[in-house]
Amino acid sequence: MPTTSAVSTASPAYWEPLWADGRRYRQLCEAEKQLMGEHLGPGGGRPALDIGSGDGSLARHLHHELGYRTTGVDCSPSAVAVATAHNSGTGPAPAWQCLDFTTGDLDTLRDPAYALITCRLVYRWMDEKAGFLGRVRRLLAPGGTFWVVTENAGRRTTTDPALLGLGIQLADAELLAAGWSVVRTADLDVLRCFALRP
Ligand SMILES: C[S@@+](CC[C@H](N)C(=O)[O-])C[C@H]1O[C@@H](n2cnc3c(N)ncnc32)[C@H](O)[C@@H]1O
Repeated sequence: MPTTSAVSTASPAYWEPLWADGRRYRQLCEAEKQLMGEHLGPGGGRPALDIGSGDGSLARHLHHELGYRTTGVDCSPSAVAVATAHNSGTGPAPAWQCLDFTTGDLDTLRDPAYALITCRLVYRWMDEKAGFLGRVRRLLAPGGTFWVVTENAGRRTTTDPALLGLGIQLADAELLAAGWSVVRTADLDVLRCFALRP
């Protein structure tokens, strides 16, 4: 009998059908943008990488409002197409790249190191979190910032298992925050934002 293996939630096989089917995710709100302004500060043309960039909203905010020279990467070709469609053609836009960050060749990225790496609503889905964090550290410039936005388990009042499953467990939050010289956090309803510095 052939064995069946579950699809990784960090793979294009999981995400591409969702994006192709029109699924969209929680939009950036003003409160979240304000937290980013406070914790990240002005980019001044320094390179930023948004991992799991989805429709590109966060990468566009980094690029156009905060002044980072931003690259957005996503493993779903349909997500990258949605993000790219927002490029107006006038003025510099973020660069978009279809890349599975967990298995792809990081040397294909535009920059060898980034002053800012962001990942919003993505860490939850990385099934090999230690390996994911190792790849982030490899790309983070000295003195850079890793900005993570993730839902924490236990913050919702619902009993819907699908919604309850969106939050990360305490052990995964501890793994995320371990080994950085600076750890700052801010809460935004069910979300927690982490600003991590090596
Ligand atoms: C819940 S969505 C969040 C999208 C976006 N960051 C946002 O805040 O709207 C998770 C995103 O991570 C992407 N993703 C998941 N695994 C990935 C991987 N291994 N490499 C790159 N992107 C990945 C998915 O395709 C999806 O666009």
